[in-house]
Amino acid sequence: MENEGYADIRVLEGPQGAWVRIDGRDRLNLCSNNYLGLANDQRVRERVVDALEEWGVGPGAVRTIAGTMGLHLELERKLAKFKGAEAAMVVQSGFCANLAVVPTLTGEGDVIFSDALNHASIIDACRLSRAKTVRYAHSDITDLRRALDEHAPGSGRRLIITDGVFSMDGDIAKLPYIVEAAEDFDAMVAVDDAHGEGVLGRGGRGIVNYFGLHGRVDVEVGTMSKAFGVMGGVVAGKATLIEFLRHSARPNLFSSALTVPDVAANLAAVEIMEEDDSLVRKLWDNGDYLKDALEARGFDTAHSETPITPVIIGDEEAAKEFSRALFERDVFATAITFPTVPRGTARIRAMVSAAHSHSDLDFGANMFAEVGVTMGIIK
Ligand SMILES: Cc1ncc(COP(=O)(O)O)c(C=O)c1O
Repeated sequence: MENEGYADIRVLEGPQGAWVRIDGRDRLNLCSNNYLGLANDQRVRERVVDALEEWGVGPGAVRTIAGTMGLHLELERKLAKFKGAEAAMVVQSGFCANLAVVPTLTGEGDVIFSDALNHASIIDACRLSRAKTVRYAHSDITDLRRALDEHAPGSGRRLIITDGVFSMDGDIAKLPYIVEAAEDFDAMVAVDDAHGEGVLGRGGRGIVNYFGLHGRVDVEVGTMSKAFGVMGGVVAGKATLIEFLRHSARPNLFSSALTVPDVAANLAAVEIMEEDDSLVRKLWDNGDYLKDALEARGFDTAHSETPITPVIIGDEEAAKEFSRALFERDVFATAITFPTVPRGTARIRAMVSAAHSHSDLDFGANMFAEVGVTMGIIK
């Protein structure tokens, strides 16, 4: 098998955290989505151990047969309350959440309007739906409105779908304008808030809270693999819609329920977020701190509006070399290259977390600067 171009997959020799052990050395972790540092939080670990004692491990079945445990329902109630939605349904992952929503709400004869930079799981979900998918230019509301106008209401449904936070650049979807367009053109709106949950809005309640759009977004899709530090997908919206998805969405009908450890850990995570916004505040403080430190050293951090910090290198090979040179200096930050981002905009995407200290980030910025100067990217 040809393996040229495969990424180096690094192997962690211990838990996720601000620092991770790889190849026998501790490395500053600047590439996980563990935004709030909950992946190895003591409170979360204890909750999982207790739940294992009480409930065991596996769900034994899909949700609609024998796999719905009281724990699943408790998590769904708490997530709905956290998001300010009438109801929520959990599935196995964020990827599955998109597969649960898009092909269930749309099909042949319907039209989906999808942002050009939407996540791969949305793209696959659109394909699976067999609806006509119209890509609009990234975050371009004029282009979205043009597309909606061109595909005027007919007999079919129309769904606009967008990432909430775009993970490669860290920019936020213009959701209020998308909702206005949907209302003007009689379309549904779904937002995938994978990188907004635990990050945007009051105490990390997500993009709908951030823009105060409660009741005007039909479906919120999300994941518990990032800020929650665990695994699992979530769909939130009106109770009738969630009930419909529960009985119709194929990932819910044909793939087994989330495991007990996942559900228990997610319960602990949502309770921590409900009680206290200090981790979310720390995350934003760290994001600003690292951006300032990198910009002060002459790096281009593009137009991120969130703690996601892209450091633009440009050339694909140079970005990979940059990442390798960082790794030699005990900084773990992967290169993101074409086709994930447009050719010529290859970058190192630095992901901060609430678990980092300022001195961790100083170390990271210094190592970026050392490599940047050596490679002639900064002076
Ligand atoms: C926007 C978006 N949606 C969905 C996913 C998939 O989430 P999960 O890892 O829970 O399957 C991701 C993760 O990369 C994402 O960024």
